[in-house]
Amino acid sequence: MTKKVYITDTILRDAHQSQAATRMRLEDMLPACEALDKVGFWSLECWGGATFDSCMRFLGEDPWERLRALRRAMPNTRLQMLLRGQNLLGYKHYADDVVDMFVKKSIENGINVVRIFDALNDSRNMEAAMRATKKYGGHCEAAISYTTSPVHNEEYFVELAKKLENMGADTICIKDMANLLLPYDAYSLVKALKKEISVPIHLHTHNTTGTGDMTYLMAIQAGVDIVDTALSPMANGTAQPATEALVATLRGTEYDTGIDLSQLSGIATHFRNIANKMKAEGTLDPKVLNVDPNTLLYQVPGGMLSNLISQLKQAKAEDKYYDVLAEVPRVREDFGYPPLVTPTSQIVGSQAVLNVLSGERYKMVTKESKGLLRGEYGLVPGKVNEDVRRKAIGDAEVITCRPADLLEPELEKYRAEYADLTKSDEDVLSCALFPQVAPKFLAERDKPAPDPNAVRELIVEDLSV
Ligand code: CO
Repeated sequence: MTKKVYITDTILRDAHQSQAATRMRLEDMLPACEALDKVGFWSLECWGGATFDSCMRFLGEDPWERLRALRRAMPNTRLQMLLRGQNLLGYKHYADDVVDMFVKKSIENGINVVRIFDALNDSRNMEAAMRATKKYGGHCEAAISYTTSPVHNEEYFVELAKKLENMGADTICIKDMANLLLPYDAYSLVKALKKEISVPIHLHTHNTTGTGDMTYLMAIQAGVDIVDTALSPMANGTAQPATEALVATLRGTEYDTGIDLSQLSGIATHFRNIANKMKAEGTLDPKVLNVDPNTLLYQVPGGMLSNLISQLKQAKAEDKYYDVLAEVPRVREDFGYPPLVTPTSQIVGSQAVLNVLSGERYKMVTKESKGLLRGEYGLVPGKVNEDVRRKAIGDAEVITCRPADLLEPELEKYRAEYADLTKSDEDVLSCALFPQVAPKFLAERDKPAPDPNAVRELIVEDLSV
């Protein structure tokens, strides 16, 4: 029996988000698109995640225009995006009408597969986005945010996957953003999911801890249907394992991907030049390319590592790198073991930086940490440290309902607020998601792109104290 393995390539999104702070430009992508479109990938991940913010904040690009250009350039391949459930691509919860419109416009402008996750695995935060994806004809991929903790075990993940399948997921993704899913655990988890779940299983990992390729191979032997890899010039380290290596490994076996290796090498040459350019301009920090088994202790995903490095560089406290890494799991425990993925990775990461740099734990508490402790992001998986909660929010009431149930429809409010600046619903959504960035971007949209090296702010800069 053959069991073809399907590949999603991430070179256009997660690979450069994880290695190069999401700085790849549309002009760096377009020359390779025709060839990428012919490979026969299950999908190409190319939008969502941090790309939307980065386009406007650093690259002078309209993210919607990028999506339309990629769609035109790759008419034959599914285009995939990453969406943070009720957060969309921002860092707070949006009302259901904004979620509905954002998903509608993403699909209208060219997205096929919407991978939806919630940082806390609170499925109530995924409902609206999943419903909208189905309503507008998209492929709804619901993701489990994988992590390890005293409260996360195989049974927990299987139950969650069953719930997501019942909510209408077309595929289930195991999203292992920090490469914590070890090879034998992957085998066991995929086996358990294949027994209980009838839709295809898609596995996403990174090679941060150096186990990514082995994790894929074991998951494939257990029957996983689709895996995420990145073309070699931006593969490995904090990004995905390399596409070419996996294609070669499976060639001639029952799992053969059907992908032609020689076709990949020309595309890789193009992206090798881009990666070299990014190294030269400093957007690709070679530190993120190393295998770091410490991640297995600290559980810090790739994107978060490169953000922590930049944050400490700005504070001229790079020598505190390992102190901050050691503080991360302590903050995470205090906060009830949230998986570390956007936005919880930034919330926990920024709080860990403050705890170390201020010299006293929780002397300063970010607005976002308070929100998490107040239940504004949903239900945390474990128990919160009540002393820390009291120190952060006093006696404020903790929310237990679906957080978006507390939000009135807000689309019309945004439309009115940004009426002077916006020409389309897409523009309104850009402003709603990034109020500090989009209005300025839209005002300057037709001017030439800024030099990326002139602006060195962090994507996490709006995580204010
Ligand atoms: Co990832």
